[in-house]
Amino acid sequence: MTKPLKLLNIVGARPNLVKIAPLMREMKRHAEIEPVLVHTGQHYDEKLSDIFFRQMEIPAPDVNLEVGSGSHAAQTAEILRRVEPVLLDDKPDLVLVVGDVNSTIAVSLAAVKLGIPVAHVEAGLRSFDRTMPEEINRLLTDAIASYLFVTEEDAIEHLLKEGRPRESIYLVGNVMIDALRQFLPLAQKSGVGSELGLLDGNGWRKFAVLTLHRPSNVDSAEILAGLLRAINALAAVLPIIFPVHPRTQQRLADANISLHPQFRLVPPIGYLDFLCLLNSATLVLTDSGGIQEETTALGVPCLTLRDNTERPITISQGTNQLVGTHPDKIVAGAQAVLAGKGKTGRIPPFWDGRAAERIVEILLRVVPRGERRVAVT
Ligand code: UD1
Repeated sequence: MTKPLKLLNIVGARPNLVKIAPLMREMKRHAEIEPVLVHTGQHYDEKLSDIFFRQMEIPAPDVNLEVGSGSHAAQTAEILRRVEPVLLDDKPDLVLVVGDVNSTIAVSLAAVKLGIPVAHVEAGLRSFDRTMPEEINRLLTDAIASYLFVTEEDAIEHLLKEGRPRESIYLVGNVMIDALRQFLPLAQKSGVGSELGLLDGNGWRKFAVLTLHRPSNVDSAEILAGLLRAINALAAVLPIIFPVHPRTQQRLADANISLHPQFRLVPPIGYLDFLCLLNSATLVLTDSGGIQEETTALGVPCLTLRDNTERPITISQGTNQLVGTHPDKIVAGAQAVLAGKGKTGRIPPFWDGRAAERIVEILLRVVPRGERRVAVT
């Protein structure tokens, strides 16, 4: 009998969980795959982690490294140190990482140094802004991964320019959109609309969703205050639902702004409620990467509060617009959407809910198994 393909999957932060859910589900459908799940513990809260495991039916992690928060260097170093013995013990045929967080690069680095090949899901995205920690994580992970799974054509170009071999790159679509398609029917049954008073006799009222957590937006009190002032002006027109990320929470007190009663700050929201809100929103304002893609898949207008995006397909084909961080531009962009001039867009190729299926089929075909090439140090 051929040996099973042992795949060690890594999650660390909230966006990773949404991406790993469809992959773990697909791996479980194949008896010839032995999936292992390692949580680095970069995010550890009920609201940033545990609720996602429950709602998305992600199996409990086989290992939790419990690294917690820290500076970039401290967090990355701690993951490197704690994951190495797990890799040595488990001897996987492949390590699969997703996205662009510190856990992604840290585990990839530990794995390749032990001779274990790495697959990177969501490879090749580039903002070309090297002040973003995620851009550094993306560049470095792609430089050392053996299998590069991309969501859009631009990513292929970026990887080729960086000298990655064409045969290591696979255009497979978007696993986050797999999750969206799977869970949208369930999300639509969420009671979050009535809980937040967003429904009236005719159904959903007009409202906007805001998320903000990029260090470049929230770590500067001045930029954060400018953003909040702009959105406060919009709150006079329609309710703004703002689930506050822990990083942002810490900075809000310093901003010291009195907010309009329709500017509603709420704790971080679980996957199903959040998907329900996104799907029903008139407008989404965000600095997240993933939400730009989710709004494109849902056909909901999105204003991205950044000067660049690593996901240009959401602009060229989807509903996304970059408005930057200048208050006037944000207000003008929102007014245009409210006047019915928001972007409509279409669904990018391969964002069809089958990305995980394609990835697993390729891994089964191309990854050598049973060699357990773990170097002895
Ligand atoms: C991380 C990722 C970012 C991703 C985001 C999604 C990196 C470099 N950044 O940023 O790409 O978009 O996650 O959320 O990997 N905290 C809690 N509870 C938790 C986790 C964190 O309260 O469960 C606090 C931490 O103490 C810290 C702050 O939140 O003060 C930020 O957390 P951190 O993991 O450092 O980065 P994020 O901003 O969440």
